[in-house]
Amino acid sequence: MGIQIMIKEKNSASALKLLKIMVNKDKSSLWKLLLVYAAAIISASLAVVRIHGMRILINGTVEKDIEMAYSGLLLLFCFNILFAPVLGFFEEYMSQRLTADANQNLQEIAMESIIKCRIEYLTGQHSSELLHTILTSIARAVDGVVKITKGILSAVCSAAVVIFYLFLKGSSMFLGIALITAGLSLLLIPLFSKFKKAYSREEAAKHEMEAFVQDAVLGAEVIRTYSMKENFARIFSEKYRKFLDKSKISSIINSSIINVKFIIGLAGALFIFTYGWFLTVNGKMDAGTLMAFFLGFWITMEPISRLSVLWSDFLEARLHAQRFFKLIDFEQEAVAISYAGNSQTNIKAHMEAHKEEFRITFKDVCFSYGNNQVLKGISFEVRENTAVAIVGPSGAGKTTLLNLLVRFVRPCSGSITLNNIDINEYDLDYYRSLTAVVPQEPVVFSTSFYNNISYGNLKAGPGEIVNSAKIAGIHDFIMNCKDGYYSVVSERAVNISGGERQRLSIARAILRNPKILILDEPTSSLDSYNETLVNEVICSAKKAGVVFVVSHRMSTIAGADVILFIDGGKIAEIGSPQELMAARGRYYKWIISESEDSPAG
Ligand SMILES: Nc1ncnc2c1ncn2[C@@H]1O[C@H](COP(=O)(O)OP(=O)(O)O)[C@@H](O)[C@H]1O
Ligand SMILES: [Mg+2]
Repeated sequence: MGIQIMIKEKNSASALKLLKIMVNKDKSSLWKLLLVYAAAIISASLAVVRIHGMRILINGTVEKDIEMAYSGLLLLFCFNILFAPVLGFFEEYMSQRLTADANQNLQEIAMESIIKCRIEYLTGQHSSELLHTILTSIARAVDGVVKITKGILSAVCSAAVVIFYLFLKGSSMFLGIALITAGLSLLLIPLFSKFKKAYSREEAAKHEMEAFVQDAVLGAEVIRTYSMKENFARIFSEKYRKFLDKSKISSIINSSIINVKFIIGLAGALFIFTYGWFLTVNGKMDAGTLMAFFLGFWITMEPISRLSVLWSDFLEARLHAQRFFKLIDFEQEAVAISYAGNSQTNIKAHMEAHKEEFRITFKDVCFSYGNNQVLKGISFEVRENTAVAIVGPSGAGKTTLLNLLVRFVRPCSGSITLNNIDINEYDLDYYRSLTAVVPQEPVVFSTSFYNNISYGNLKAGPGEIVNSAKIAGIHDFIMNCKDGYYSVVSERAVNISGGERQRLSIARAILRNPKILILDEPTSSLDSYNETLVNEVICSAKKAGVVFVVSHRMSTIAGADVILFIDGGKIAEIGSPQELMAARGRYYKWIISESEDSPAG
C-alpha cells in the first residue's frame, strides 16, 4: 500500500512554499538565508578575478614582463588563499545554522499538526510514514531547497560574469563553446524527467518496506505464535528486492546524467584546445587568453555541472517537501462552531448557571463513515447522576457513539446538546475538560506510572495521583515495581498486562474528576475482583455527572441506571435493567445468548 505522493506543484512553487513556511515561522531565517545567498553570489562573481590573474600571469611570463607576471600572481594569491576560503567558511557556517534552525522549526510545525489534527487524518496513515516525514523528510527537504537555490544563484552569477569576460576577449571562440555546451545540454532534459519519475517510485518502494518493518516489530508476538517468521522474512526480502530494483533504475539514470556532463566538458575542452591552437598559432590570440578560456570554461562548467547533481538532489527534496506539505495540510479539529452565535463567555456562564440541571440530549443523530451509515436516528436524553450502559453486538456503533460524544467526529445530521447548547458550540478545550475517556485499547505512554496518570490532570499533586491509582486498583501493583511510581512503562507497555494497562487508564480518567466519564469496554481484560472495582468507580463518578460505559459484563450492565441497547446503528431498546429484563425483548434475548456463550459473564 505504498503511498505515491501526488506532485501537483511546479518545482519552483514547492521550493518557494517551503522557504515561505521557514521564514514565516522564524523571521531570523530570512536574514540568514539572505547572507548565505549574498556570500554565494560574491564568491561566484569574483571567480573572474582568478581568470584575469591567470591571464596576466601567463602573458607576463611569455613576454618576460616580471611586474605584470607578479601582479597576476598577487591577484591569484589574494583570491585563492585569502578571500575564497574565508567567504566559503562563512557561507558554510551560515548554511548550517539556517538548515539546523529551519529543520527544528518545521519539525515543530509538523508535530503541532499531528497533535491538533482531526483523528481520522491519523487513523488513515501508517505511523511509519509520519515518523519518516518528521525524522527524515523535513531535513532532506530543507537541505535540498537551500542548496539548490544557492547553487542556482552562484551558477548564474559566475556564468554571467565569466561569460561576459570571455566574450570581451574572443567572440568567435566564445560562440563556439556556447553552441557546443547548449546543444549537448539538451540531452539532459529527458534524463531529468525520467529521473523524477524513477525517484518517486524508489521512495514509494522504500516507504512500503519501512511500513513492513514497523508491522514486523509491532506484530512481533502474532508473527511468532502464528509461525509466520518464514513468511514475513520472504515478504521482506521481496519488498527489499523491489526497492533495490527501483533504486537501481534511478541510480542508472543519475549516472547517465553525470556521463552527459562529462561529454559536455570533454567536447568543450577539445574545442578550446584545437580552435584556440589555431588562433594562437596565427597570432589572433595570446597564450594568456587561451588559458583564460580553459579556466573560464572550467569555472562556468563546474557550478553548472554541480547544479545538475543538485537538481537530482532537489527533485528528491521536493518529494520530501510534498510529504511535509501533506502532513501540515491535515485539517485541524474545529475549536468551536457557533451555530446560534453564542459567545464562549455566554456558553460557560450558561453552563455554570445550569450545573444542577446537567443533561445530555441526542436528537435524531445520524453518522456515516463514507457510504457506511453507522448510526441512524439516535435520540435519548440523560440527566445528571446517571450511569448509561451502552450494550449491543460488535460493530453495532457503540464506539462511534462515544466518538461523537468526545467530538472526534461530528454527526452528519441531528444534534447532541449539553444543557441545550450543541456540544460543537463549546470551546473544544473547555468541553474536553468536562470529559474523561478510557478507550477500548488503553493507551499507555513510554514514561513513568506517575506521568501516565498525571496526564489526566496536569495540575494534580502526588496525593491525588496516588489516590486515583488506589481507586483504580493499580496502586499495589505500582508499589511492587522497582522504582514505584517512577518506574518507566516500556514501549508498547510489554512489561505490564492488559488488565494493568486498563486500570492505569482508568486511574488517569479518575484523576480528571470529569462531568462526563466515558468507558469503552473497561472490564474486557479484568478479573471479577477488578470488575467490582470498576463498578465502584462508575458509581462514584456518576455522583459528579454522567457515566457512559460500553460493556459486555453482566455486573456492570446490571448496575447501570439506563441501558441503551444498540443494534445495526439504531436504539433497539432503552430503559432500566429491570424494565428491559421484564420486557423480554431483544435485550433479554441478547443477554441470555451472551451468558450461554461466556460462563464468566
Ligand atoms: N474509522 C472508521 N472508518 C470506517 N469505518 C469505521 C471506522 N470505525 C468504525 N467503522 C465501522 O463502523 C461500524 C461501527 O463500529 P464501532 O462503532 O466501532 O462498533 P462497536 O464499538 O459497536 O463494535 C463498524 O461497521 C465499523 O466497521
Ligand atoms: Mg467498540
